[in-house]
Amino acid sequence: MSRLDSFLRRIEAQRDCLKHAAELVAKIAGPIIELGLGNGRTYDHLRVLFPTREVFAFDRRMAADPASAPDPTHLVLGDFRDTVPGALTRIGAPAALAHCDFGSGRPESNAILAAWLSLALPPIIARGGLVVSDQELSDPRLTPLPAPPGVEAGRYFLYRRA
Ligand SMILES: C[S@@+](CC[C@H](N)C(=O)[O-])C[C@H]1O[C@@H](n2cnc3c(N)ncnc32)[C@H](O)[C@@H]1O
Repeated sequence: MSRLDSFLRRIEAQRDCLKHAAELVAKIAGPIIELGLGNGRTYDHLRVLFPTREVFAFDRRMAADPASAPDPTHLVLGDFRDTVPGALTRIGAPAALAHCDFGSGRPESNAILAAWLSLALPPIIARGGLVVSDQELSDPRLTPLPAPPGVEAGRYFLYRRA
């Protein structure tokens, strides 16, 4: 598969998983969080999927396109290791959905951060809430869910907070 095809499949999987997650959390109260604002593409998409909820974006820096930049109240700047543990006071309530999109081209550092977030995320996710992630997570409080139809297993990951 060409790199372009692989990129397209990843982006399609991301969009399909977020749409699926939006349906699954329709009855779960709480804000939405994005770990990895980057250019702001998926943050902007989350704002469209959840027009009535607060959507908070976390990143170590602000590099989003101005059209999809969060306002200062909804932007949490700093390394996840510093911002995630105290996030409840910032986001106000456990999140109904966390979208993790922090992958880089360095598989080893992705795995280290995924292991850390696996432990740090559950306390800030509502019971029954979802985590959708570009990296595989592993924690007994996060129950893996199947990807929606059309998304190849292992391309994107969904978990329900037990
Ligand atoms: C793949 S990009 C996100 C793309 C974005 N979701 C979009 O659709 O435009 C990954 C982002 O995660 C951020 N990131 C990675 N590790 C981080 C960490 N430990 N703390 C804070 N931000 C981190 C990077 O700065 C980068 O902006």
